[in-house]
Amino acid sequence: MVAETIRLTQTVKGAGCAAKLAPGILDKALCGLDLPFDQNLLVGLDRADDAGVYRVSDELALVQTLDFFPPMVDDPFSFGQIAAANALSDIYAMGGVPKTAMNIVAFPAKTMDISILRTIIEGGLSKMKEAGVVLIGGHTVEDSELKYGLSVTGYIHPERILTKRNLQKGDRLILTKPLGTGIIATAIKAGLADQELIDRVTQAMATLNLYAALIMEDFTVHACTDITGFGFLGHLAEMVVDSGFGVHITASAVPVYPEALEWAAMGLIPAGAYNNRNYRGAFVDFAASVQQRVQDLLFDPQTSGGLLIAVAAGEAESLVAALKAKGIECAAIVGEVVNRPVDRIVVE
Ligand code: CO
Ligand code: CO
Ligand code: CO
Repeated sequence: MVAETIRLTQTVKGAGCAAKLAPGILDKALCGLDLPFDQNLLVGLDRADDAGVYRVSDELALVQTLDFFPPMVDDPFSFGQIAAANALSDIYAMGGVPKTAMNIVAFPAKTMDISILRTIIEGGLSKMKEAGVVLIGGHTVEDSELKYGLSVTGYIHPERILTKRNLQKGDRLILTKPLGTGIIATAIKAGLADQELIDRVTQAMATLNLYAALIMEDFTVHACTDITGFGFLGHLAEMVVDSGFGVHITASAVPVYPEALEWAAMGLIPAGAYNNRNYRGAFVDFAASVQQRVQDLLFDPQTSGGLLIAVAAGEAESLVAALKAKGIECAAIVGEVVNRPVDRIVVE
């Protein structure tokens, strides 16, 4: 049975205003605007998550997301794969199954050959195919800077939505991809990365979070997000703030690219990492033993990063073992949900 549809009489005031977390550009633009209330909107702008969720029936909801960005690698096919894997990831982070996608493209048609765009889209299509997703359309604008991504729609059961907001005491936090892709992308642009590293990082960024998501379905997962532009600590802050709990992170347990750690020590750090620390660093306490380079890596903006999964304590070891058995070898328990300090992250 389909639930009652839109009631325009009630509005969501203050949509987009993040109470404690510093808002992004779109949040600022939306802050204070009246948005129509709809009881079938299960996850929307007032409690923004990885994706929005809209209930169609008691058994079915749509989960929708959009991501696009400029290239972080030179190979067009790889860029297409990474952009698609990144866009699909928000559906997996909600526990959904992606079904359809549309290309979103900004292309410098006056200076770039159309065959490059064709190859980018081929890369994206290869990941859509792997994900079982159908390409149903898209939109292109001419722009001086190339950008590519997808808007993705998936299915999800209205009572089985994984948000960022459901940490439980004792939960263990599991990360499924290494950190450092922002620093490495900076090194690639500066011509410092060798081909072996570029291949390794490209492969990781192009890997669908589908496989980790399929495995976590069999465990008592309380909350989940994926690590992208706000970095590990920025996205973790979204889980922790207003949770009523604190989180302890063991810095040495967090999987990282060793090359990124070396470049961070040399100061090769993207501007986004500083922004992330400025925006969300207020929720983090570092022990004196945590080196500056490690702190910088924990704020490094990621492209198509891993899932950050909060799982019941007693199942954490077996979830990690299951992830490793399926080839997600860097999967590790990186922290724990504790009573205090409330709404804060302690990195030791
Ligand atoms: Co996300
Ligand atoms: Co996103
Ligand atoms: Co989520």
